[in-house]
Parts: sequence; structure tokens; C-alpha cells
Amino acid sequence: MTRFSDAAQAPPPNPLEDCTPWPPPPSDPIPFTPDTGLAVRTRLSAFELPDDKVGQLRKAYQLLRDLTNNSPNDPRGWLRQANVHCWYCGGEAGTETGAGPEIHGSWRFLPWHRMYLYFHERILAQLVGDKTFALPFWDWDTAGRDRLPPIYADPGTPDNPNPLFDQNRGATADNRIPPGIVTSDAIGLMLSPTSFEAPGGFGGTSDGPGASPGTLENSPHGPVHIWTGDPSMRSPVPDMGVLATAARDPIFFAHHANVDRFWDVWLNQGGRSNPADSSWALEQFAFYDQNDTPQWVAMSIGDSVDHETSLRYIYNGTPNPASAVTFALAMAQTGGTVDVSPQSRETIKVPVPPELSQPRPAEIAVPGPPPKPVYVLHIQGIQVPPDEQTFLRVFLELEDADARTPITSPNFVGQFAILAMRKPGTGAIPHKAAAHSHNQAFELNDRQVAMLRGKQVLSVKLVAVGGRLTKIPYRRAFIAARR
Ligand code: C2O
Repeated sequence: MTRFSDAAQAPPPNPLEDCTPWPPPPSDPIPFTPDTGLAVRTRLSAFELPDDKVGQLRKAYQLLRDLTNNSPNDPRGWLRQANVHCWYCGGEAGTETGAGPEIHGSWRFLPWHRMYLYFHERILAQLVGDKTFALPFWDWDTAGRDRLPPIYADPGTPDNPNPLFDQNRGATADNRIPPGIVTSDAIGLMLSPTSFEAPGGFGGTSDGPGASPGTLENSPHGPVHIWTGDPSMRSPVPDMGVLATAARDPIFFAHHANVDRFWDVWLNQGGRSNPADSSWALEQFAFYDQNDTPQWVAMSIGDSVDHETSLRYIYNGTPNPASAVTFALAMAQTGGTVDVSPQSRETIKVPVPPELSQPRPAEIAVPGPPPKPVYVLHIQGIQVPPDEQTFLRVFLELEDADARTPITSPNFVGQFAILAMRKPGTGAIPHKAAAHSHNQAFELNDRQVAMLRGKQVLSVKLVAVGGRLTKIPYRRAFIAARR
């Protein structure tokens, strides 16, 4: 998916022309873990922000812009951060390395932008040194707010320009969004689908060839971008109306906060739910985080769904939808160390994909037989010291499995050996690697899939049948559907 290998030797790309991530991200992102110690922050309307918060917001964007000027290679700065959006929308220019995965036009749209805003918000919070900092939202749907929020529309003075202002915008403080985009009839239509992922639904269909966007991405999302930028497409400057440069305008984030809020509004209508599909919930996207030495962090869509619990923010006036919590991924994210010695009864606990653990919501009838997914058990980041070997068997729901349990057991899913990279003290060719990490994946057969039905959690037993290791650290374990 990502092609970073040659980038390490190359000079940093000019961020005005090339949105390839810089520094080149490591191939192995750190899994996101919710910062449960973080206070839940409330995002307020940009039209209702108290003065002290306006001052803080301006300061935050000033510091963000300063970062680009003073340390142009810091991935958190205004321009490199805007380029994250560019890279993920196929709008990259001037390199052979290709763009990131496309995050528009499918069911990736809402969760990816939610994640992007989360990291953006944490970066601004870090810059102003206030963990309670929250992004504002531009509630264009509220009567009289079909215009740029004044705090973003004000250019400031030549001595003291407003860092929330973007001089490339076509829209001015006096303009109104044309009727039929954010008016209540249009909003009602946008909210009406009952399915998230059916064609014509609210959130977009599964990604890949033939994918289509949902009603919210189509409108108001898109038309508000164009209206803010340059409806005539004649201005030669980069602006909000062009995906590659949209996130250079600070209003992008207030616009997208309202888009994100409408995901809640849609769910709160009742009778609606997020895709109950593990291939959606388990897809991951990586971002540089807010730390002064930014880390490349991978968040899965499942991590982002319950934003109050995991991302620690809510919208003023819009409750966090209870129905959003569909998939307890935290358990899968954590990893740990499992005792694989023959007498151990310890197992890895793996969340069962929601489509198996819960009855499916009513489905839209489609012609032809539904595609039958293959369920795959993944155990990732298995660590074995370079001078050790191990041979492990994997069983489902069988705590008592030991080295004598036959592989003909219906609970047996597979076995694997990890070879040592060197032998200590033997004069064999030394290998430089200090540690290595392995991923394993096993297809489950029909009988094993039947074992998952109605369960929330599955236990996975690893049995050592060779080698001296008794404790095996792993980073995460999960079951994903492959279609
Ligand atoms: Cu990624 Cu509003 O576009």
C-alpha cells in the first residue's frame, strides 16, 4: 500500500508541490491506544466560541503556521499537515511514489476525516499547551449560519493578520451559501437513508472499484468546499475547493467537524447503524501524532467509532450516539504476552466480528447469492528473540490443548515455526537484527466460523511444541473478514 522505501535517501519533498509524507514514515506504525486519562472535550460552534477560546484558537493556528516557517520538516506544521489530506486523496503531485489510499468516495470518508481531525486537534492542543483544547464546528445547517463564521472570515490587519483567515478563499464575509445546499430540505434528504453502506446510503459503500460516496459526502460536504474556494475555478491559487489543497485553509477543519457531527446526528435518529462489517472496522490509517517527536500512529476505524470513549470529544448539543459502539477493538489493540508452555491454560482473547456476534440488521435485498466472506484469524507482532526458535500450534476455544492434542481436532487452526536468526556462541554467521516481529494469519473453516456465532470474545490457545520459549509477546490479535 505505502511505498516509502526509497524516500529515506531522498531530500525532503517541497511541501508546496509534493505531498508525500515527511519524514518518511516507518513501515510499522504504533497502534493507537485511547488516552483514557484525557478529559472529554466539547467541540463548540464556531459562531458561539467565547472570546478566550477564540484567542486560543488563533494562537494555535498561528503556532501551526510558525511551525511550517521555522521547522518546515516537522510533520505537524500547517503545510505538511494539510498535505496529509492531499496524500490520502490522490492529489499528490510531482513524484513517482504514488498517493496514499483514496479516502473519498466510499465508506472510508467519515472515519478517515474523523481521525484526521482528531490528530489535528491534538497537535493544536500540544502547541498551545492545553489538553482541553477542542476544535470548533461550522454549523452551516443552523439558520443564519450559511456563511463563513466571522472568526474565520475576518482577515485581521496587515500588522496582525488573522491566522484563521485564508486569502485564497473566494467566499467573503458577505457571501451566503446558495439555497438547496444547507437549507433544512437539503439536510433532511441527506439524513434520510437508513443504511450507512448500501448504494445511495448515508456513509458510502465499501471501497474499491465501483465504490460510491454517501449522501453527506455528496452534499453539503462537497458544495461547501467549492463555495468556500472558488466556484468559478478560475482563480489560479490553491484553495478549499480543490482536494489537494483544501486542508491549507483552517476552515477545512471547522467544516469537517460539522460533517463529523452529522454522522452523530444521523445515528441519533434511531434505526440506523454503522457498518457491521469487520473489514470496515479493522481498516487502519496512519498519522503523525502531536508529540514533539511525532510518532506514526495507526488508528483503526473501529477505534474511531465511539469518539467519546476513545477520542475523548463530543459535540455541544449532539449526544454521542449509543448505537455507535459496535466493536470492542481496544482488546485487540493491546497485545500482551501469552504463556505457551504445555501446562498453561492461558489464551489470547480475540473480539468476534460484530456480524457474527450480533444478529444482522435487516438487509437490503440484492440479486444473486451474497458473497461468502472468509474469516481470518490474525496474530500480529509476535516477538521471538533472534537467537531463539519456536514451533507453535493454534487452537480455538480449547484451553486444555497441549502438545498431545492432535491436529485433527476441530479446534485446530494451524501451526507455524519461527526460525532463529543466529546461534549464539557457535561461530555461525551472526545476524545483525536485534529482534524481529512476525505476523501470522489463519483461515477459519466453516465449523470454526460456527463456533464464533453469538460469542463476543473468542479464546485462542497457542501451544509450544518445539523450542525453549514459554512466553510469547504479541502486539494484536483479531479476526477479519476477507471478501
Ligand atoms: Cu477530504 Cu472535505 O475532503
